[in-house]
Amino acid sequence: MALKPARILAIESSCDETACAILENGRALLSSVVASQMEIHARYGGVFPEVASRQHVLSITSVVEQALTQAHLTLKDIDAIAVTQGPGLAGSLVVGMNMAKGLALGSGLPLIGVNHLEGHLYSAWVYNSDERAPAEPQFPLMVLLVSGGHSELNLMTDHLTYQRLGSTLDDAAGEAFDKVARMLELGYPGGPAVQKSAEEGDPNRFKFPRAWLEGTWDFSFSGLKTSVLYEVRELQKKSGSLPVADLAASFQKAVIDVLYKKTMDAAREFGAKEVLIAGGVSANRPLRQVFKAQTEFPVHIPPLSLCTDNAAMIASAGYYRFALGHISQLDMDVLPTWPLS
Ligand code: KG4
Ligand code: ZN
Repeated sequence: MALKPARILAIESSCDETACAILENGRALLSSVVASQMEIHARYGGVFPEVASRQHVLSITSVVEQALTQAHLTLKDIDAIAVTQGPGLAGSLVVGMNMAKGLALGSGLPLIGVNHLEGHLYSAWVYNSDERAPAEPQFPLMVLLVSGGHSELNLMTDHLTYQRLGSTLDDAAGEAFDKVARMLELGYPGGPAVQKSAEEGDPNRFKFPRAWLEGTWDFSFSGLKTSVLYEVRELQKKSGSLPVADLAASFQKAVIDVLYKKTMDAAREFGAKEVLIAGGVSANRPLRQVFKAQTEFPVHIPPLSLCTDNAAMIASAGYYRFALGHISQLDMDVLPTWPLS
C-alpha cells in the first residue's frame, strides 16, 4: 500500500539529547540537529534529570530553528509535528512536548505523539536525502532493541505492529555497559568507553556467564555484571592493578554472544524475513560486525549517527503514525513509562 507523502518535523527530548529533524515520506532525511548534554552529565557519572530538563529549555528553540534553516524550509513547508511522548524522563519529555504543542498550535499543523522505542526501530528506515535509498526493511521482521533503558526482542509484522517476545528481567544491555564502565573507571557514557578499551583486550581471558534463559526470549545482564564486579574485587585484592582491556573485552563478548544467538534463534523460530537491530547499543562495532558477517538473514542496522538518541527516528515513526491516521490531541500528556507494546 502506498502511503501519502508528507514532510514531518520531529522533536526529541526524552533524556539528555535535545534534537529536531525534518524528514520526507518516512525515510529521506532533510536535516537533523542534536544538542548533546553528554559533557555536562559526565561530571555526575550519569544523567542528572533536573539538569537535563533545564538544558532542554535552553537548547530547544535554537535546535528547532537550526533544523528548519539547514533544510531551507519554514513551518509552512511542514505537514505535521511529531514529538517523543515517552518513555523517558518526565521533566525532559515535557520540554519537547510543550515546544511541539506550541508549534502545532501556532501553525495549525497536526500533532503526533511518538513512542521513543518505536522511534529507535524506525531509525533503520532513515537515509540522508542526498544519498541513494537503501532497501526498506521487510516484514515479518525480527527486531532487537538494545538501549540504555531497554533490551527486548519483538516480531514486527507490519508498520506499528509489534509482538513482544521477551525483554530484560533486570538490567538493560546499555545499562550493563554503563555499570561495568564505572567499575573499570572508564567514564561516561559507558558503552563507547568499554568498546574502545576492549579493542586492546582478550575477549577469551575471563569466562563470564551467559544467561541463556532457555525456553524464553528474555534477557538478563545483572548476573554478568555481578560476575565482573567479583572478578574486579578479586584481582584488586591479589595484585592491586586491573587488566581493564581484557575485562572489558570479555564482558562485551558475553553480552554480544547472548544478543546475537537469541536474535538469530528467534528470527528462525518466528519465520522472520529479515533482522533489525536498533538503540544505543547497536552502535557497538563488534555487535554490528557479528550480525553483518552472517548471511542467513538480511540485517538492518541504523548508521552510527542514528543509533543513539536523535529526532530523525522520531520523524520516521511519526510519519507512519501520521500516514496511518494516528493523530494526537493538544492535551496529550507525556508517558514516562510507555512500553513499545
Ligand atoms: O538509545 P540510547 O541513546 O538511549 C536510550 O534510549 O537509552 O542508548 C544509550 C545507551 C547507553 O547505555 C550507552 O552506553 C549505550 O547505549 N551505547 C553503547 C555504545 N554506544 C552507546 N553500548 C555499547 N557500545 C557502544 N558503542
Ligand atoms: Zn533512546
